[in-house]
Amino acid sequence: MYYIGIDLGTSAVKMLMVDEKGEFINSVLKEYPLYFPKNGWSEQNPEDWWNAVCEGLREITSDFDKNKIGGISFGGQMHGLVMLDSDDNVIRNAILWNDGRSDKQCKYLNDVIGKDKLTEYTANIAFAGFTAPKILWVKENEIENFKRISKIMLPKDYIVYKLTGVHSTDYSDGSGMLLLDVKNKCWSKEMLDICGIDDSVMPTLYESSDVVGTLTDKAAKETGLNKNVKIIAGAGDNAAAAVGTGTVGNGRCTISLGTSGTVFISSDEFSLDKNNTLHSFAHADGKYHLMGCILSAASCNKWWISDILGSEDYDESQRDIKNLGDNNVFFAPYLMGERSPHNNPNVRGAFLGISMDTTRKDMTQAVLEGVAFALRDSIEAAGKLGISVKSAAVCGGGGKSPLWCKIIANVLNMEIFTLQKDEGPSFGSAVLAMVGCGEYENVSEAAKKLTAVKDRYIPEKEIAEKYEIKYNKFKKIYPSIKDLY
Ligand code: XUL
Repeated sequence: MYYIGIDLGTSAVKMLMVDEKGEFINSVLKEYPLYFPKNGWSEQNPEDWWNAVCEGLREITSDFDKNKIGGISFGGQMHGLVMLDSDDNVIRNAILWNDGRSDKQCKYLNDVIGKDKLTEYTANIAFAGFTAPKILWVKENEIENFKRISKIMLPKDYIVYKLTGVHSTDYSDGSGMLLLDVKNKCWSKEMLDICGIDDSVMPTLYESSDVVGTLTDKAAKETGLNKNVKIIAGAGDNAAAAVGTGTVGNGRCTISLGTSGTVFISSDEFSLDKNNTLHSFAHADGKYHLMGCILSAASCNKWWISDILGSEDYDESQRDIKNLGDNNVFFAPYLMGERSPHNNPNVRGAFLGISMDTTRKDMTQAVLEGVAFALRDSIEAAGKLGISVKSAAVCGGGGKSPLWCKIIANVLNMEIFTLQKDEGPSFGSAVLAMVGCGEYENVSEAAKKLTAVKDRYIPEKEIAEKYEIKYNKFKKIYPSIKDLY
C-alpha cells in the first residue's frame, strides 16, 4: 500500500508518497501566493491551498494504481484562522501564524484577562499569530465577517474538511489556538466565552493518527482518488516534523529551519513554562511538547539571497564561508517581529557592525548566525526550566545546508544531526497515515523504527567558545532596538 503525507506549508504544499516500509515512492511540490496586505500582516487564500492539494494529489498518484493508496495525513502550518460561513464559503483570507496585527488583542488577553488565567485555561499565554487573538481582531475590526462565522478551523483542517466533510482538528494543532485546555485535551469554555464564540463553531478533536473519515463523492472527483482512501487527522507541522525525525519520548529535540524556526522538545508528561517563553502543546504521539518559535528562519536567508542579492544560488552564497566565530557582523532576524522569546510583533530586523570592509559573505554568514542565536534563546529558555537538551535533529529547507548545521551545532554547543529521510513534516504526516491505517501499532513505535541518522555535526571547542561570546553580545541587540518601531 501507499501512504501520502501532505505538508501544508506557508510557501508551498509538499507531498510525499511512501510505501508501507516508509520508502519514498514519489513527491510533489505546489506553490501558492502569500499576501502581506500591510506591514506585519500575513494572509493566504484557503482556496489556493485546496486547488494546490487537488492538483498535487492528481500528480503524485498519476502513475500509480489508485487502489493502492491507503491513507493520507497532514502536517499543517499552525495557528492560521480559517473562517467559514453557514454555506461553507471562506469568509475572508486566512490570517496566518506570522501575522502581527493582533498586538492590541494580545495585550488585552495577557494584561487584562491576565497571563495566569490564560495559563490556567490553556497552558499558554497570548502571542500575535495564535488563533484566539485573531478572532478578537476580526470581532473588533470586521464585525460583519465575525457575525457570519459558522465554523472555525486551522489550515490543514480546511483540507480535511474539503476531503471528508468532517470538521476536525487534532490536539497538537488545536493547542496553538489558545482555545484548547492542553492539559485536559478539551476546548476551554472560558476562552470561547472570552472570544465570544460558541463551541458549535469549533472542530471535533482527534488524536493525530485517528481516522477522521473517507472521501466525499465530490472530493474523490476533484482529487482523482478512490472514495475509500482513509483521511487521518494529522498534526501541526512541527509535531509532524518531530514524528518524521523520531522526536518522541522524553527530552528529545528537533530544530526546524523552515519559513519559521522552531525548537521542539518532546515530553511524556504535560509541563508548563512558568516564564511563558516556550509554548506548552500536545504532541502527535498522544503526549506533549514544549516549543519555542522564531518567526523568520530560512525565510531570512531567502529574503537576503533572493530578494536582496537577486541570486538563486544558495550553495554559492555559502561557499568559502570559513571564519566561524570571527564574523564582526550581527543580524537580528526579526523580519516579521518575533515570537519566542520576545513576544513582540512590532520589532524589526537589523544588520549591526557593518564597516567599509564588510563583504556580502560576511552579511550572508551573519544571517545564518543570527537565526542560530535566535534559536539558542529557546534552548536557554528550556535550560531555565531545568531541561538540558543534549542533541537535536534538524529538518526543513535550511537543514540541507551543511554550513548552517555546523553553525547551529557550535552556537548551541550541542550535537546536531540530519536524518536519512529528511522530509520532516511531510514524512511525519506519511507516518501518521501509516499508523492510522494500522501499519504500525502507534506513532512512537513507527517514528523510532522509520528514522535513522544521516550526518552528525559535533561542536568544535574553539568555535563554540567564540560563539558563546558572540551570543552574549547578540542578547544585547533586542533590548536596544525594540523601542525603535
Ligand atoms: C509554530 C509556528 C510555525 C508555523 C509554521 O508555532 O507558528 O512553526 O507552524 O508553519
